[in-house]
Amino acid sequence: MRLIRAAVLGAAAAALAAPAAMAAPTVIKFSHVVAENTPKGRAANAFADIVNTFMGDEVRVEVYPNSQLYNDNKVLEAMLLGDVQMAAPSLSKFERYTKKLQVFDLPFLFRDIDAVDRFIASPAGQGLLASMERKGIVGLGYLHNGMKQLSASRPLRVPADANGLKFRIMSSDVIAAQFEAVRATPLKKPFSEVFTLLQTKAIDGQENTWSNIYSKKFYEVQPYITESNHGYLGYMVVTSKEFWNGLPEATRAKLKKALDIAIEYGNQVARVKAGTDRAAIARSGRSEIIQLTDEQRAQWVEAMKPVWKKFEREIGEDLIEAALRANE
Ligand code: LMR
Repeated sequence: MRLIRAAVLGAAAAALAAPAAMAAPTVIKFSHVVAENTPKGRAANAFADIVNTFMGDEVRVEVYPNSQLYNDNKVLEAMLLGDVQMAAPSLSKFERYTKKLQVFDLPFLFRDIDAVDRFIASPAGQGLLASMERKGIVGLGYLHNGMKQLSASRPLRVPADANGLKFRIMSSDVIAAQFEAVRATPLKKPFSEVFTLLQTKAIDGQENTWSNIYSKKFYEVQPYITESNHGYLGYMVVTSKEFWNGLPEATRAKLKKALDIAIEYGNQVARVKAGTDRAAIARSGRSEIIQLTDEQRAQWVEAMKPVWKKFEREIGEDLIEAALRANE
């Protein structure tokens, strides 16, 4: 990882021109909810390192991880009020601002991260970065976390095993419908509350990526994790239109370059952590990792896929088709 980081700073040195001197640097508060040793945590810190090293006279980035400043259900409001300047909520948390991003939540839509990469690079995917401009939000880029797994207090092998269980979900109606499709009860709760809800058994399960399950120790309070890879968890790095447009054009260009480099680094961390954090959980012996047979997996697909139809109009058939084409 250190090598990747050195390469990131090297690339930034080549890409960013000498800082233009200004009276007082503009401060960018970047608020997020995950631990620092995660794809998002690492990308945010890399962005801060690059900007503070190469543009420090002009702009200073302060990163606030672990919901220190805001949880994800509040950060967008705070950003629009100017209390923070950047955030990277998961794509599931923009529902109040656009329905289009719900495409990323559709269960079993993307085969893997490579398919997501192709979709976000496509005109449809790039167009979504501008889908909230009317609401004052500018999308600066996408960042991966990984594919989601299901954890629970009992083994989940077939959809009927989830029947009657309570699952914490992000604030997404698509994800709510996904759990209702297997007769479970979804509860929308902030990420910062998940560990305690699981530990106190107020809820029975949750869905998340290997890196979030590991870094927030969910595996210590969930005896079973089903390797379902049933959905994608990624982020949009956003800023407010007001803040962004208030910066000189040259500053915007340099910040965007710095962010692109940090995102590329974060995406490499995501790919590594999907394997290493899963392995660390397996080694811990605290949680049993359940692998589905093809036949069991087919049952989950069949149970959850009707969710697509339900949201087809809100999301747009064209967008769903573009996402599906990315699997090819
Ligand atoms: C969650 O709330 O489960 C995730 O969005 C957390 C994150 O930012 O990865």
